[in-house]
Amino acid sequence: MYENPRLLIDSSNPPEAGSVVWRSPSNIAIIKYWGKYGIQLPKNPSLSLTLASSFTDTQLEYEFKDEAHGGAIDLDFFFHQQPNEAFQAKTQAFLESLIPVFPFLKQLRLTIRTGNSFPHSAGIASSASAMSALALCLCSLEDTLFGTLQDSAEYDRKASFVARLGSGSACRSVFPHAAVWGETSLVSGASNEYAVPVGDLIHETFRELHDDILIVSSDEKAVSSRAGHALMDGNPYAESRYAQAKQRLSVLLDAMKTGDLESFGKIAEDEALTLHALMMCSNPSYLLMQPGSVAIIEKVREYRAATGHPLYFTLDAGPNVHLLYPGEIIHEVRAFIEDELKEYCENGRVQEDWVGEGPEEM
Ligand code: DP6
Repeated sequence: MYENPRLLIDSSNPPEAGSVVWRSPSNIAIIKYWGKYGIQLPKNPSLSLTLASSFTDTQLEYEFKDEAHGGAIDLDFFFHQQPNEAFQAKTQAFLESLIPVFPFLKQLRLTIRTGNSFPHSAGIASSASAMSALALCLCSLEDTLFGTLQDSAEYDRKASFVARLGSGSACRSVFPHAAVWGETSLVSGASNEYAVPVGDLIHETFRELHDDILIVSSDEKAVSSRAGHALMDGNPYAESRYAQAKQRLSVLLDAMKTGDLESFGKIAEDEALTLHALMMCSNPSYLLMQPGSVAIIEKVREYRAATGHPLYFTLDAGPNVHLLYPGEIIHEVRAFIEDELKEYCENGRVQEDWVGEGPEEM
């Protein structure tokens, strides 16, 4: 939808070399995106909270090159100051695929310097922050060269669209507080092509929620997201799952508008367990939790029953457990993590995060 062959640099009037820099956060889905079709289109709508302390910084340097319009993407890539062949190849292929959207990329020599605020091997998904940061840089570059993205809503929409092509969940990271991706009549303007912000619709409780990520294991994922999504195609529960996600989104949005933490927490936990159950009954089957994940979940349930405190968990497609709770109980929760949960974390590792204001141009 954003293909635009006119976005080419006039070689008789080339731009000066320059750079753009964005910091973009990760996000945690409450309604999970699991199952896709076509070119990165979701089988059901999802909703996520935008995080703050888990982010990627990306600098995109550009310089006009004299060669005619042909040619491939000319890219140097550094991850935490080091050349990284695997990331370079992946980014190169992604940029090639974006030439119809940003045809001027062939006319530039590009250098990308990127890094995360969290250790690469922390088991924290970095594709959402990395792909959203890159998409925002590309839109900034377009706007710098052509002045075509002056409208900030249009800018964000295009950045979300481009981020989605890199990694589905990344399209939701472009917005502050919370975002919905995928067609639904519940949110005006919602689309399969890009996410829309819903931070303004929700109660302030959720704009200030904490998410402490308990790192149970930092091992490489047992199954890539791409393979995981593909497994949904043969999953016997797929269709009822997609219907369930739509229904849950409706209940969740109501809870988030009114500040109903209990209903929010119930859905967050049900969604996490549903995601893991879907993986268990896929073919081949995957057990993505580890004993420590199960122990943490049980402890959280006991803690809630004993204290009545609104502490809830969610998980991505891996063993790490995200603990969601409001700031009022931070001291109690941090003590509980210290005393009873850290023992299940790899080297006692916890990434403290919270709902944030979205990406920032640096
Ligand atoms: C479990 O966005 O990583 O985190 O589109 O193939 O890059 P690709 O998948 P990805 O899938 C994320 C799945 C999830 C749930 C979610 O974030 O909604």
